[in-house]
Amino acid sequence: MPLPKQDYVSDIWKDGIFENKVVFCTGGAGSICSAQVRALVHLGANACIVGRNVEKTENMAKDIATARQGAKVLGIGAIDVRNVESLQNAVEQCVQELGGIDYVIAGAAGNFLAPISQLSTNAFKSVMDIDVLGSYNTLKATLPHLITSASSHKNPHIHPSRANTGGRIIFISATIHYTTMPLQTHVSVAKAGVDALSHSTAIEFGPRGITSNVIAPGPIAGTEGMERLARKEGSDQVKTRVPLGRYGTVKEIADATVFLFGDTGNFVSGQTLVVDGAAWRTQSANPGAGFPYPDFLLKDEVVTGVKGEKKAKL
Ligand code: COA
Repeated sequence: MPLPKQDYVSDIWKDGIFENKVVFCTGGAGSICSAQVRALVHLGANACIVGRNVEKTENMAKDIATARQGAKVLGIGAIDVRNVESLQNAVEQCVQELGGIDYVIAGAAGNFLAPISQLSTNAFKSVMDIDVLGSYNTLKATLPHLITSASSHKNPHIHPSRANTGGRIIFISATIHYTTMPLQTHVSVAKAGVDALSHSTAIEFGPRGITSNVIAPGPIAGTEGMERLARKEGSDQVKTRVPLGRYGTVKEIADATVFLFGDTGNFVSGQTLVVDGAAWRTQSANPGAGFPYPDFLLKDEVVTGVKGEKKAKL
C-alpha cells in the first residue's frame, strides 16, 4: 500500500516537476532521507538509495517506488560511505541503470549519546568517518555526474518550464553545533565539518552551475535520530523547548528538499536551511531529554535508555 501523499510531501508542488531526473541518496533507508526521496519520486524522479543494511535498503526502495506508477527506484545495500570504492560502484550502477545523476542527498550519518569521558578515539573517529569522510566520498563519487547534469540544465530561470534543474546537492546536517551540546561532541565536530564541506562545494562548483546546500533538521517525529537522542519518557520535555510547540515531520524536510532542487531553488546556494520550528534558538545544555546538565556528567553516569547506547564488549 503506498503511503498517503500528505505524509511525505505538500500538495503545493506540481506533479511531474522532476520528470526524467535521477536522485542519488546515501542513508536513503532512513526515516528522513526516505521521505525526501519519496517526495522527489512522487513528483517524477527516479532514484537510487544506498545503505549498509541490504534488506532494509532493498525493501525501502520497493516501498518508495509505490509513490508513483512507473517509478524506478534502485536500493543498493552493503554500501558503507566510509568505503569510497563501494560507493563509486553504486554510483556507476545508478548511472548505468537510470541514465545519470541530477540530484544528490548526502544523508548517511552516525549518532549516539556519549560524554567525552566515555568516547573512545575510535568512537569519535567512527562518527567523523561516516559523517565527514562519508559526505566527502559521496560528493567525490557523484561530482562528475552532477557537473554533466548542471551543464545540460543551464539557466533554469530563463527556461523555467517543468523546473528544468540539475546538478544539485544537499548535505543533511544538524543544529547541535550552533550552541554545542554535552554528550554530542563527536556529532558537533562532524556536522560543523559537513557544513563547511557544503559551503566549499558551493563556491568551487558554483561556476559550473552546481548548487550545494545544507538542510539542518530539528527534532523530527518518528525518526531514528530522536530515538538515539532522547529517552522516551522525556520526549514531552523536548517539545516544550521548541518555540512552535511540536516536533517537525519528515514531510517538512521533504518539502525543503523539493524547494532546493526545484525551480524555486535556482539562486539558493551555499546556504543552510534550518527546519526546526526555531528549536535551536532555545537549545539548552540538554541533549534530547532525560540527561540533566550538569548532574549527569558530574555523576559519571552511563548513557542508557536510548537507541545506540554503548554495548558491553563480550
Ligand atoms: N557510546 C560510546 N561509544 C560507542 C557507542 C556509544 N553509545 N556506540 C558505539 N561506540 C563506540 C564503540 O564502542 C567503538 O569504539 P571502541 O572500538 O573504542 O570500542 C566505536 O564506537 C565504533 O563502534 P562500532 O559499533 O564498531 O562501529 P560501527 O561502524 O559499526 O557503527 C556507529 C557506527 C557507532 C556510529 C553506530 O551508532 C551506527 O552504525 N550508526 C548508524 C545509524 C545512526 O546512527 N543513525 C543516526 C542518524 S541521526
